[in-house]
Amino acid sequence: MTTARAHTNIALIKYWGKRDAALMLPYTSSVSLTLADFYTDTTVVFDPALPADTFTLADQVRPTTKVTPFLDLVRAQAGLTTRARVRSVNHVPTAAGLASSASAYAALALAASRAAGLTLDAQALSRLARRGSGSATRSLFGGLSVWHRGHDDATSFAEALPATTLPLRMVVVLVNAGPKPVSSRALMANTVATSPYYPAWVTHNEAAAAAMIQALAANDFPAIGHLTEQSAMQMHAAIMAADPAFTYFEPETLTVWQTVQALRAQGVPAYATMDAGPNVKILTLAPHVDAVQAALLPRFAGRLMTTAPGPAAHILEDQ
Ligand code: PMV
Repeated sequence: MTTARAHTNIALIKYWGKRDAALMLPYTSSVSLTLADFYTDTTVVFDPALPADTFTLADQVRPTTKVTPFLDLVRAQAGLTTRARVRSVNHVPTAAGLASSASAYAALALAASRAAGLTLDAQALSRLARRGSGSATRSLFGGLSVWHRGHDDATSFAEALPATTLPLRMVVVLVNAGPKPVSSRALMANTVATSPYYPAWVTHNEAAAAAMIQALAANDFPAIGHLTEQSAMQMHAAIMAADPAFTYFEPETLTVWQTVQALRAQGVPAYATMDAGPNVKILTLAPHVDAVQAALLPRFAGRLMTTAPGPAAHILEDQ
C-alpha cells in the first residue's frame, strides 16, 4: 500500500495541443510552477482478491474509465495482472475551482508504480504521468519545471529547472468555482483541428519556452511575467479562433486582467495567466502580494488565495 502526494502546477508557458493523443505527445514544450497549497494525496493497493479496479475521490465511488487504462500501463511495466484499489483526496481550498488533473495523475503515477514494486526515476515517472494528463508530466517536480515536447514516448518528459532566487508568489482569483463548461481535452483537440491561429501558436510558444528558461535563469522578473501573459493570451486567442468559437473568459476574468494592467502601470510587478477555465492566477513577488490583494479585495473578497512554489511529488506512506 503506497500513498503519494503531488502538488498541482500552473504553466507559465502553456501546453495546448497534442501531436499524438495516444502517447500524449504535445506540439510544444511548456514551463510551469508547482504550487505549495494545492495537492492530491493518492493511495494505491494492488489486491489479488479484487475482481476489478476501484476508485474513490474524497470517499465517493467514481468510475474507473480513466484510472484503469492508466493502471494498465503500470501493470504492463511491472508484469502484474492484479487489480487495484485507488483512493484520492484533492486538497484544494473549498470550491477553489482549480481541481486539476496535474496533481491527480502525478500522485497516481508515483503511488501506483511504487505499490506495483517499480522504482522509477523522476524522468520515467514524468513520462508515465504524461499518459494520464499532459500537465501531470510537470507535477512530479517542485518549483519550476520544463516539459520537453520531445518526439516520441522516450523523449517527451519534464525535468526540474534550477531554482530562481526570486520570491515568486501566485495570487489565485476565483472568478467561478463551478465545473468547466468544456473539457480541456476536447477543446485542445478542436483548437488543433480548426483554429487558423494554431500553427502560429506552436511557433511562438516553442520560442517562448526557450526565452522563459533564459529569463528564469537570469532572474529577470519583468521578462518572466511578460512571457507568462503572452503565452496565456496567445493560447486563449487560438481557442477563440477555433470552430466553433469559444472562450473561457467571463466578465470578471477581464476585470482581473484590467486590474493587473492597472497595477503594473502603478509600478507593481504583477502578471496574469489563465488555464482551461475563467479563474485568473497572478504571478508576482512576495513584497507585492499585499498590493495585488488590496487592488482585488473590493470585488473579490473571500475569493483570493496566495500561494508559493511547492515541493516535488513524494511518498507519504509505503508499507
Ligand atoms: O490538464 P491537461 O493536461 O488536460 O491540460 C491543461 C492545459 C493547460 O492547463 C490549459 C495549460 C498547461 O500547460 O497546464
